Amino acid sequence: MLQSEVFLNGEGDSWFTRNQDYLLSQGADDTTKFEWVSWMVEQLATPPKNIAELGCANGWRLNRLHQKYPDSRFFGLEVSQSAIEDGQSRYSDLTLQQGALHQIPCPDQSFDLVIIYGVFCWVDRTQLIASISEVDRVLCEGGYLILGDFLPDYPQRRAYHHLPGENVYTYKQDYAKCFTSLGFYQEVTRCQYSHQLNPELNFQAVAASDRFGCTLLQKNLVQGYPIV
Ligand SMILES: C[S@@+](CC[C@H](N)C(=O)[O-])C[C@H]1O[C@@H](n2cnc3c(N)ncnc32)[C@H](O)[C@@H]1O
Repeated sequence: MLQSEVFLNGEGDSWFTRNQDYLLSQGADDTTKFEWVSWMVEQLATPPKNIAELGCANGWRLNRLHQKYPDSRFFGLEVSQSAIEDGQSRYSDLTLQQGALHQIPCPDQSFDLVIIYGVFCWVDRTQLIASISEVDRVLCEGGYLILGDFLPDYPQRRAYHHLPGENVYTYKQDYAKCFTSLGFYQEVTRCQYSHQLNPELNFQAVAASDRFGCTLLQKNLVQGYPIV
């Protein structure tokens, strides 16, 4: 079974049930609490108008951003139906929909900011290129992409310990490179911290396999190529 099917068929719901309290403590109703993605969005010169988070759980981060940018529109995609229903009951101003990264149910260039945090590592390798293509399709020219994921020294995988023996893996690699290697995505900034610790307080050395990175990229189909 493909990993997207594993998550669509129950593991997404199980992940949400296990992590629901943590997600709410992450600041759904407390926009003063530090959070790297929100911090990066705040650095943009112009507030984005159409914001998507793909693999958004219940949309807690979109809700935080909605508090700061009430005039923007917010769309969240998530494989877990439980997470979507939870988010719909809490955050009525967000549009939340069940679905997977490799088939984003939105027209081309729908968004000027796309956030993907902790999701690419669970995408089946056979659907990784399709997922990257879909993200590129829905992001407009000049738009921003914020990618958060594991950032080890080299690509590696770890067996997903909640489903032992089912050939499900967490694939760790620098996903920002998949975009920058195209030539028309530029890295604007990046931060690194431990997956295990509170990022705000984390100045400790980090084991490479637990290192997490959050990268802000900009898409520039034309300006990305200086004339020589
Ligand atoms: C580590 S969680 C992160 C959730 C949220 N982005 C956050 O930062 O709190 C990854 C989320 O991606 C979802 N997910 C897993 N595979 C997915 C896929 N192929 N497409 C969309 N969402 C997926 C999971 O159900 C889970 O909610």
